[in-house]
Amino acid sequence: MNLSMSEITIKITDLSRGGAGIAREESGRVVFVPYTAPGDEVKIKIHEEHKNYAQGQVVKIVKPSLDRVSPRCSVFGRCGGCQWQHIPYALQWKTKVCGVKHALERVKVEPPADWSEYPSAHPWNYRNRVQLRGLQNEIGFFAAQSHELIPTNSCPIARTEINESWSQTQSEGSKLPRPYKVEIEVLPSGKIQKFWNSPHGAAGFRQVNEEQNEKLRTWVSNQITPHRELLDLFGGSGNLSAPLAEKMQLIHCVDLSTPETPLPGTPQNLFFHRASVLSWLLKFQKSNTLKKQRSAILDPPRQGWGPQLSEMAHALETLGVTEIISVGCDPDHWAKDLSRLIHRGWRLEKSAVFDFFPQTPHVEAAAKLVRPL
Ligand SMILES: C[S@@+](CC[C@H](N)C(=O)[O-])C[C@H]1O[C@@H](n2cnc3c(N)ncnc32)[C@H](O)[C@@H]1O
Repeated sequence: MNLSMSEITIKITDLSRGGAGIAREESGRVVFVPYTAPGDEVKIKIHEEHKNYAQGQVVKIVKPSLDRVSPRCSVFGRCGGCQWQHIPYALQWKTKVCGVKHALERVKVEPPADWSEYPSAHPWNYRNRVQLRGLQNEIGFFAAQSHELIPTNSCPIARTEINESWSQTQSEGSKLPRPYKVEIEVLPSGKIQKFWNSPHGAAGFRQVNEEQNEKLRTWVSNQITPHRELLDLFGGSGNLSAPLAEKMQLIHCVDLSTPETPLPGTPQNLFFHRASVLSWLLKFQKSNTLKKQRSAILDPPRQGWGPQLSEMAHALETLGVTEIISVGCDPDHWAKDLSRLIHRGWRLEKSAVFDFFPQTPHVEAAAKLVRPL
């Protein structure tokens, strides 16, 4: 089939949790079309074909859906950041929640009856960190999956402080001799911090959406049994465990990039370990042969617990961990990890879904699992 010839007009009927609009051809084949909304009638070009589905690209919106909203950003659709500015927030949220449930169903995990949902009350100006690219007088973002610079003078999902520092950053960058990258971060104090041409996340990991992060911290806090030893694994700088310090006996926070020296105000019973989670657990297990009831939080990167899940879970079980909070930003990996833990005898007690990333299809999910000692 000559793909460049295959232009068709179709009706978008659904929104996929991956972000694209969905159309169904008469043959039953599903076509995914990014930047479309349910109700759109669009002329598209198919650029990728598989047995049961195809990927299309909009050539022209023939008749826009009545549900569309106006994107706030002048480079929406060209910048790689947002995929959903044309989708009303209520539909974004509904699609995310259904997406997390779908991810669980795919791995045959029944969503628990105790299920909480935390949409965002402020779906704009929430990001406390952005990564800009620039060359001479131009500053902006890269296009999706490309190094093409899309110049812009603001970002409607970035915090106001970042937008206010834009032109100053542009002027500083224009003096550099080569293409540059600058990470701009708003500190909790409201002060701006910039990292020029540094590796990604040079300042360590920090959740990008503070308001939603507070909701996650509170949810996690409410799940943990007090007066125990808590293992905060993939814990960054203790974002999820520090608020628990008063009610816990002892906290070990393990991360490849924990602070070298404890930050001012770090509680005395919170200990940081700069290490890989598995190697730390194996070492900890050797020196802690007494099995006692402990709790654990695991908040790994996108790929979840990964191939080391069995070894990590075995170490946690041997140490007497009887409750695990598993947090994930990729619903499929998160759900797969839950399913593997359930097969080991853990029971899924509660789940919660949080919107940290409005205007994009990304979503954060958390679960509480328990297992008797
Ligand atoms: C999603 S972040 C969570 C951080 C923290 N819980 C928070 O809420 O800010 C994932 C963290 O995993 C860390 N990480 C990635 N791979 C790791 C590994 N093998 N061992 C330890 N930490 C790791 C990263 O440095 C990052 O801080």
